[in-house]
Amino acid sequence: MRMKADLIDLNDYPVEWWEKLLDLGHKIVSDPAAYAHACEGKIMGTLFYEPSTRTQMSFQTAMLRLGGSLIGFDNPATSSVAKGENIKDTTKIVSGYADILVMRHPTAGSVKAAALTADCPVINAGDGGHLHPTQTLTDLLTLKEEKGTLSGLTIGFCGDLKNGRTVHSLIKAMSCFKGNRFVLISTKELALPVYIKDVLSASGLEYKECSDLEKAIGELDVLYMTRIQQERFASREEYEKQKGCYVLDRKKMALAKADLIVLHPLPRVDEIEIAVDDDSRAMYFKQAEYGMYIRMALILTVLEGQAHIPLVKGREHRHTLCSNPNCITHKEKYLPHYFIGDGTTLICEYCDERTLAE
Ligand code: NCD
Repeated sequence: MRMKADLIDLNDYPVEWWEKLLDLGHKIVSDPAAYAHACEGKIMGTLFYEPSTRTQMSFQTAMLRLGGSLIGFDNPATSSVAKGENIKDTTKIVSGYADILVMRHPTAGSVKAAALTADCPVINAGDGGHLHPTQTLTDLLTLKEEKGTLSGLTIGFCGDLKNGRTVHSLIKAMSCFKGNRFVLISTKELALPVYIKDVLSASGLEYKECSDLEKAIGELDVLYMTRIQQERFASREEYEKQKGCYVLDRKKMALAKADLIVLHPLPRVDEIEIAVDDDSRAMYFKQAEYGMYIRMALILTVLEGQAHIPLVKGREHRHTLCSNPNCITHKEKYLPHYFIGDGTTLICEYCDERTLAE
């Protein structure tokens, strides 16, 4: 099996690997100048098929601060993608130009599909509503630096838990640490997908679902706010029904613990009142800065060849199609149908959805 230093899902790597990365992130925060030449002569390709400010710019700045160079696009309309080129061909070609690829795409499983053919390591910068592992590394470094621990925390996730890929990745990661409790605050329509609840159940950690932020805020050590992901709704009307359902304001902050920290992957729409920015517990701008440092640590680790995982863990089931209509296997038909498991229920290797075997 081909081994490469791709980062598709953080949980493909052992927790000890994350901890080494967070230690390196901490060293870089303390003395970024010491790493100014660490990636001289290396090239990073950024393939952004979906809008991004922080993720793209923090990756680019991270590479520049390591002494490396950049190529890429942030508007597929100006690349051959507009002529109908598939992911396989684009990534195969660009991976021949660059030493590392960072990719964001609107479809679940797309970055894994890219990694299958790319000749260099591929980093997932967000694949549809599925995962966003480097935002999770950002969140973990923020928690480590600001709370001093990744264990024993009561973490509230509030907003669009259905479509928020940052929420999915962070819950998967935090369920690997002892004593964490999860409070899932959302409307019924925007509840956490079953495959992430399965991860929580398997971890044996406590979690509860509720719909009232005001009632829940007092017990939290960390509040992870998210925007309602308009672009992932089937229709404008459905979005309008959910829009503005949660707003963190100063009145609610007054009910929270003195040492709560408020995180948000950003961009914010209307779910955190601007006045909350002046509260010392609002950590989201600092969180975005930590994102650059942890991405420096990640690029360094990947380019030094200190990461290797087998990309395919299961096997091909030719006649079974993934049950998730938003999975990349429905759009890029040449992709092998890789699933984990051999029983009647299989797990799609691209998007993690359960599917009945054919
Ligand atoms: C998030 C994303 O793209 O998933 N943003 C980010 O990467 N900082 C969150 C979002 O878009 O709501």
